[in-house]
Amino acid sequence: MLTPVFSSLVLSAFATVLSAGEVFRFSSYYGSYMILQKAPAKSVVWGFGQTGAKVVVSLSGSHLLEQTYIAPVINGIWRTTLKPMEAGGPYTLTAYHSTTNSSIVLKDVLFGDIWLCSGQSNMAFTVGQVINATEELTMASKFPDVRIFQAALEQSKKELTDLAGVEVPWSKPTPGLLGGKDFSHFSAVCWLFGRYLYEKRKYPIGLVHSSWGGTPVEAWSSPRALQKCGLKSSVISEQNTWSSSVLWNAMIHPLLNMTITGAIWYQGEANANYNRDKYNCTFPGMIDDWRMAFHEGSEGQTALDFPFGFVQLCTYKTKDPTDGFREIRWHQTADYGFVPNKRMKNTFMAVAVDVPDEKSPWGSIHPEDKQDVAFRLVLGARAVAYGEKNVTFQGPFPTQAVLGNSYITIVFNQDIKASHEDGYFEICCSEDRKCETDDKWTPVAISSSGLNYIFLEIPPCPASITAVRYLWTDWPCKFKACPIYSYDGLLPAPPFILGVTNQRPTTVF
Ligand SMILES: *[C@@H]1O[C@H](CO)[C@@H](O)[C@H](O)[C@H]1NC(C)=O
Ligand SMILES: *[C@@H]1O[C@H](CO)[C@@H](O)[C@H](O)[C@H]1NC(C)=O
Ligand SMILES: *[C@@H]1O[C@H](CO)[C@@H](O)[C@H](O)[C@H]1NC(C)=O
Ligand SMILES: *[C@@H]1O[C@H](CO)[C@@H](O)[C@H](O)[C@H]1NC(C)=O
Ligand SMILES: *[C@@H]1O[C@H](CO)[C@@H](O)[C@H](O)[C@H]1NC(C)=O
Repeated sequence: MLTPVFSSLVLSAFATVLSAGEVFRFSSYYGSYMILQKAPAKSVVWGFGQTGAKVVVSLSGSHLLEQTYIAPVINGIWRTTLKPMEAGGPYTLTAYHSTTNSSIVLKDVLFGDIWLCSGQSNMAFTVGQVINATEELTMASKFPDVRIFQAALEQSKKELTDLAGVEVPWSKPTPGLLGGKDFSHFSAVCWLFGRYLYEKRKYPIGLVHSSWGGTPVEAWSSPRALQKCGLKSSVISEQNTWSSSVLWNAMIHPLLNMTITGAIWYQGEANANYNRDKYNCTFPGMIDDWRMAFHEGSEGQTALDFPFGFVQLCTYKTKDPTDGFREIRWHQTADYGFVPNKRMKNTFMAVAVDVPDEKSPWGSIHPEDKQDVAFRLVLGARAVAYGEKNVTFQGPFPTQAVLGNSYITIVFNQDIKASHEDGYFEICCSEDRKCETDDKWTPVAISSSGLNYIFLEIPPCPASITAVRYLWTDWPCKFKACPIYSYDGLLPAPPFILGVTNQRPTTVF
């Protein structure tokens, strides 16, 4: 028979592991087949253990002298920052936990660039749902170094330390994982972005997908970010995915401690009629806040201004100017019309207004063509995130609109390819010089064009012509048939609104 003292010792030794509620493990988003962020940044690795224990992390591989790192477990958490590692692998990452004498081995780990992909349903839209899905899925196995991870759909009232669930653990791509349940896994925009990027960078790319259909930007924003835009964090009575911060808490906050290269985002539809007029604050504000938080969480390894790419809204309703899409497109750029700009540094945007899809089996709000938006995002990433000098990633943008005697001249910042069709440009003719309502705007025709400019006809206007706008409707163009593109025809001019001056144009003639 055990003496009482002995039995309580046995019990407490047994209970120490359980009573802390923690078992020895890596956090949810470290696993075999993962990509860790490559040099020059250092990758952060962390997990859970028994307070007081030591965790010995070791990294080994055929061309590597084994590296070891010792991490004490403090408050149930251990954490270490690896030395900077060049792209490549495979490596084996082992964590050994002293008090239980147990090890966890992660195999086939590569170093590369990690991109986070987030947003609503157009980001959740899977590879199985895109146009040419069969070809895209068949190609999956040719890209074993583009690896995927996906957080499960979870929401929380408070900030979580680790993900509450994992939808796809780190994996090499397979048709089954990429084209799983509709809107469940894996994101087509995320995957195609990673695959196209891999073809250019030629080293491993890790894709971390964390998105949820039908969700507003407020759900993905911290209370601190919302407050800066004058939004109160909602007092949650009936919590749902529209509640402020619930997805930030459960699907972004847990990821902050991993080192990442950048993020891409496809969201905004849910804000077309929800805090729409605040989106020019909430969206840039969320980007700032994520940047600060990822930088802090990784102890400075993720850049404070990490590159952030996004898709400008496509189209939804053919003839409903009140669906809010035109305003959100503008607000996505902090009302500049283009990015990067002074408010949104180190960002890039894929314009999508010219790839509408009225017949999409998933509804017109979900265009089937994700290849074009991913391609445009990759141009942005190459130019902005990777500093490639020769990559054009922005369509033409006007520098001036000048009112002359017979024409309004619009000068663009690059050479253009123009088609002279009516109905895309409008001018504001108004007594009070305000152009706030649609009845102040009159369509005008393009009468001719040159290398980097167009002439618009001047319609009768008894008052003043004060502004011009372009593609200012929910569904302005047919597929890839807007009137103004870059000279090579690849990139559309985004929608804009611009004041008209009387100054002689400086950059034409
Ligand atoms: C720890 O585990 C190893 C491998 O299972 C074993 O060889 C060793 O004896 C153990 N050490 C202790 C202190 O239990
Ligand atoms: C789909 O495949 C067809 C035939 O190969 C090709 O012409 C088309 O460009 C593809 N569409 C996209 C969006 O990739
Ligand atoms: C955002 O847009 C609203 C509505 O158009 C406007 O009133 C406000 O001044 C804009 N705010 C910023 C910060 O640009
Ligand atoms: C992750 O980063 C946050 C923010 O800096 C910090 O509060 C938290 O303790 C970190 N978590 C881990 C597990 O290191
Ligand atoms: C950029 O393009 C120019 C002109 O086409 C070429 O001379 C130059 O080598 C290119 N630079 C890079 C880095 O590709």
